Amino acid sequence: MDSTNLMLERADRGAMPELTAFVAASQTAGQGRLGRTWVSEPGSSISLSLLLRPNDRARKGWLTLMMAASVRATVEQFAPESKPLIKWPNDVLVVERKISGILAKALGDEVVLGVGLNLKSQQGAPETAIALDELGCDASFDEVLFELLTQFRARYAKFQSDAHWAVSDLAAEFREHSATLGSNVIAMLPGGSQIQGLVSDIDADGNLLIESDVIHTISAADIIHLRN
Ligand code: BTN
Repeated sequence: MDSTNLMLERADRGAMPELTAFVAASQTAGQGRLGRTWVSEPGSSISLSLLLRPNDRARKGWLTLMMAASVRATVEQFAPESKPLIKWPNDVLVVERKISGILAKALGDEVVLGVGLNLKSQQGAPETAIALDELGCDASFDEVLFELLTQFRARYAKFQSDAHWAVSDLAAEFREHSATLGSNVIAMLPGGSQIQGLVSDIDADGNLLIESDVIHTISAADIIHLRN
């Protein structure tokens, strides 16, 4: 298929139950953030998109971090020594290289939550990418997919019964495994402006708090980590 996200966007979603999953072993036009492409050569990564209908729509901003936390736990499960970290808002890194990226799209009250997770190193991937096989993991596509779905469903079930769970437990999970907290960063904002400062925390909506002369609350940005 071209893209699991696009397939789900085009689909007759009204007829589909929540947590319907579109999965591909390759995509011809995988979408990344900010109009970038996402490379997924045959069999080398999992491309997954989930259909979500969050009960607390005001807190749907947490879904990307929820998936990032689920991917991080999955990577740790298969590569216990790898120390995977979440780079706010949508990447999972191992040794500062990207093993997974997440792309969420709100469609009215629904959210299409897409994630790519690298299983094998790919020819067309940038040097800043890494895959599970480079971490000594030879688990199959299905094994990794099953673990990722299990991790995500457990978190999503808690969120659906009480969205405040995200503000407490999910935020705590992010703080414990964050590549971004405590880092000096440049945040490239969607309008083209930039903010440089120290990341002090996330707030109750999962926004990033960056301290410079004042505290900036960032809901969307491309984050560049500077050497501390
Ligand atoms: C990024 O890091 O820029 C986000 C990458 C998201 C890639 C996934 S793969 C499954 C889903 N379908 C897509 O076309 N994109 C997302």
